[in-house]
Amino acid sequence: MKVYKIDIPPDKSISHRAVMLASIAKGTTRIKNLLISDDIRRTIEAFKGMGVDIKVKGEGCRVKGVGMQGLRKPRKGLYLGNSGTTMRILPGILAGQDFEVMLTGDASLSKRPMSRIAEPLRMMGASIAGCRVKSEEWRQKNICPPLRIRGGKLKAIKYRSKIASAQVKSCILLAGLFAKGVTRVTEPMKSRDHTERMLKYFGCRVQGATPNHSLRSGTGHGCKVSVKGPAKLKSPGTIVIPGDISSAAFFIVAGCILPNTKIILKNIGLNTTRTGVIDILKRMGANIRLQPRALSLEPAGDIVVKSSELRGIAISPEEVVRAIDEIPIIMLAACFAKGATTIRGIGELRVKETDRVRSMTTNLRKIGAQIEVKPRTTRSARVQGMGEGLRVKGGRVLRGAQVSSYGDHRTAMSMLVANLAINGKIKVTGLSCINKSFPKFLKLLHKLN
Ligand code: S3P
Repeated sequence: MKVYKIDIPPDKSISHRAVMLASIAKGTTRIKNLLISDDIRRTIEAFKGMGVDIKVKGEGCRVKGVGMQGLRKPRKGLYLGNSGTTMRILPGILAGQDFEVMLTGDASLSKRPMSRIAEPLRMMGASIAGCRVKSEEWRQKNICPPLRIRGGKLKAIKYRSKIASAQVKSCILLAGLFAKGVTRVTEPMKSRDHTERMLKYFGCRVQGATPNHSLRSGTGHGCKVSVKGPAKLKSPGTIVIPGDISSAAFFIVAGCILPNTKIILKNIGLNTTRTGVIDILKRMGANIRLQPRALSLEPAGDIVVKSSELRGIAISPEEVVRAIDEIPIIMLAACFAKGATTIRGIGELRVKETDRVRSMTTNLRKIGAQIEVKPRTTRSARVQGMGEGLRVKGGRVLRGAQVSSYGDHRTAMSMLVANLAINGKIKVTGLSCINKSFPKFLKLLHKLN
């Protein structure tokens, strides 16, 4: 058996939040094991543009926080590249500032729906203008970037979100820090809770959140979270970020589908709002062992995966929320499983960096996979993206073809794993997008050759 140790990059979601909260906290924060990738650079540059002193050094950075009202109006608009997380969470902080700012992004980001954050922020008293893109029905009803945000005096709200989205929840909670009273967000299923955990780490009380040391934060518990404003953040001094389970997922699936292989991944975030991919793969028969180790901010541990005989299963909408970024690579795993895999509640995949239902079904069909997309049924299911599903028939012989990343990092990496599994017959075009989250991916994947 060939044994590989792969160094997984730091968590992207946690890295964004660490830079954001450190910037508006009182005191200096050292962030260790910060992800240095295209998206995190956008967040760092945005705060530097608003006067925060941030120094990136090696695999970490030092942020001199300016306090809740210490940000300065940037000299020009803030360009956020492809970073949807920055575009959706940063407005929560900007809504509480006494200046106007314009947020712009690249072509893909400029087509992503923003009404989901604009609506609650307007209810709180911020003024937000965006663009209407003439294309699909939902886009016409939505605003997209560029966003012009004028912050102001905010009022607390109780907001019931139609979608389970950590970006929406985080944006509202951050705005809630600036509002007088209790701001509460309720979501239909529990999305990742990194913001809640980090807010507590910065000394803020968050009701409904899971205790930071807990390994458990499964669905059902914690769909309702609230903060009481006005609140101030205090630097915890140091933050250590674990490896990104979403990046690890490519190597976990590679370990399952490659023959005679064992892959060891050290110090990966194991927050249960993110470990859907592990639960799903284990149910499919994957040989995965977790060795938890304690970390103060987030649960983390080592993952050992070995070649496995996978079988098809039914994946529920709750599991999709806990594996929202891993569905592309799970679709690939399903191609290597015995029997069919069904995945329900995939609507949100349509509004990621690209429409991932389309990018992955087109690419996988090109290499010989059999995939059915089950249409959205009711109107409300269509709007909320809940009704739509997929059926992947496993066990087909896959063949070579030229496929595209569609500018999406997770589509690109999934197809590169497919290429490895069928001995280099697939050509994937448009690979620069991988720098968004995993700049060393190609080099590390090469090790498995
Ligand atoms: C993220 C939340 C998820 C995820 C994205 C990162 C975050 O998006 O897909 O990659 O850091 O909060 P949604 O909030 O749209 O589900």
